[in-house]
Amino acid sequence: MAASADSLTLPFAWYSDEQLLRRERASIFARSWQYAGRAAQVAEPGSYLATDAGGVPILVTRDREGSLRAFVNVCRHRGSLLMEGCGKRNTLQCSYHAWTYDLDGSLRSAPRSERELEFAAEDWSLLSASVGIWGPFLFVNPDPAAVSLAEHLGELPAILSRAIDIDGLEFHSRVEFGADANWKIVVENFLECYHCPTAHPSFSEEVDVHPDRYLLEAHPTFAAQFAQAKRTGARGQFHLLFPNTGLNVFPGPANLSIGPIAPASAGRTERYLDYFFAPGADAGWVTDFFAFDDQVGREDRFLVESVHRGMASGMVDQGRLLLNAEPLLAAFQHWVGTQLGAT
Ligand code: FES
Ligand SMILES: [Fe+2]
Repeated sequence: MAASADSLTLPFAWYSDEQLLRRERASIFARSWQYAGRAAQVAEPGSYLATDAGGVPILVTRDREGSLRAFVNVCRHRGSLLMEGCGKRNTLQCSYHAWTYDLDGSLRSAPRSERELEFAAEDWSLLSASVGIWGPFLFVNPDPAAVSLAEHLGELPAILSRAIDIDGLEFHSRVEFGADANWKIVVENFLECYHCPTAHPSFSEEVDVHPDRYLLEAHPTFAAQFAQAKRTGARGQFHLLFPNTGLNVFPGPANLSIGPIAPASAGRTERYLDYFFAPGADAGWVTDFFAFDDQVGREDRFLVESVHRGMASGMVDQGRLLLNAEPLLAAFQHWVGTQLGAT
């Protein structure tokens, strides 16, 4: 019997096609909520943070009145990126020709513009984007008319609160990494633990990866995984907020990591994770935790790079999902297909 459409993967050609990535940037990343950093980075009036939403440069500011705002981080003059990093400023000045914007995005001065016959500064404000805060996390969406972050998060905050109190966490550090694989391969690898027994011996030693006890739940805007430590019974959760925000709580002392899975090209994915722990977390435990996480990360990198090379060979059109073990991949692929307007 032929496999049903649901049990087929996306066409393998979709995983190495630069033209498709351009469509994904326009249809997915330019209109989706994505993790952008920590809310604490823009807590003070006058603070700014330059960030990235799947290739769209975004600038978040807290203006002098305390309003949080987001803009496309591109100068309206000739398109230079406007700001880098984060800090505190009274105004935002482009380093190319010194066009200067207010923290509310309005163009305040453009040298020599007074010598023009007609120049209306109000026509050249920064383009608006959307910004939202969830506990200690900052999210942006390049679409100024986006649904609210709360609406996109749906039940995720309530579900996560069963495992951890996010407001009681302290930021520890950011870890950057990447892989030579398409971003969807990296996401899909994150969405199943079917590979855990074979590919993650140390993880499977700690965490019960039996399909009856490692639970998978597809929601409209996120995919949830629930795990339990073998020895202690402590609970963990692993979530993907569509399209590309990963969020991990390992079973054990309070810990959380969150960050984007972002395409640098069709064949390269750049990631970072912001790590949070409860205040006063045991330093030895934290060191062991990073070593464990790094080990799992290296194992996953090998897997996704191998998948990328296999898919990019062009020899196999499509794969077969096991809907029992990989329902979250089906949910993600369905979501991607819908965003792209594909049938
Ligand atoms: S590009 Fe920004 S001032 Fe010219
Ligand atoms: Fe993995």
